[in-house]
Amino acid sequence: MIIRPIDNKDIIPYDLLLLADPSKEAIDDYIQRGNTYIAIDEETIVGTYVILKTRPHTMELVNIAVAESHQGRGIGKHLVQDSIKKAKALGTHTLEVGTGNSSLSQLALYQKCGFRIIGVDKDFFKIHYKDKIIENGIDCVDMIRLQINFNN
Ligand code: COA
Repeated sequence: MIIRPIDNKDIIPYDLLLLADPSKEAIDDYIQRGNTYIAIDEETIVGTYVILKTRPHTMELVNIAVAESHQGRGIGKHLVQDSIKKAKALGTHTLEVGTGNSSLSQLALYQKCGFRIIGVDKDFFKIHYKDKIIENGIDCVDMIRLQINFNN
């Protein structure tokens, strides 16, 4: 599997991006402003992530997704680790990520990769998403904010 930046000959992997964010409008906004990477295995895009500069020396991992057929094999962890490397290489001091209070496996994944919880954006999903989201039997209403700091 190789991970590389998307280029304008590639088809934007909306099917994957929409797994992580149900808003196509939000996706179009951040892929335009951020750096999108794709993971390719046997000529198929099996994963993607987007990092975006948000403040001086700060970037956010705004979308990460692995094709359902390829989940649970370590690709997601590999992509998070790669996003950390790319952000560091871009001179970033802090990489942030936000996920739903109900996204239990994502919260596990980010913390296993070194992210620490730094806050809660209360009612974020209630305010910004018109459809109700339920995962693991839990209403997704708040965004849990996590970050990892680099000493560079
Ligand atoms: N408790 C403890 N650890 C858990 C867990 C749980 N409930 N659920 C997952 N994990 C761990 C796994 O064990 C693994 O860690 P390990 O390698 O130390 O065992 C890690 O989380 C991730 O596993 P991995 O196989 O690398 O993940 P993946 O390839 O399935 O990708 C996602 C993870 C989230 C990217 C993928 O499920 C996905 O695309 N989901 C839909 C989109 C999405 O939700 N994106 C994130 C938006 S915030």
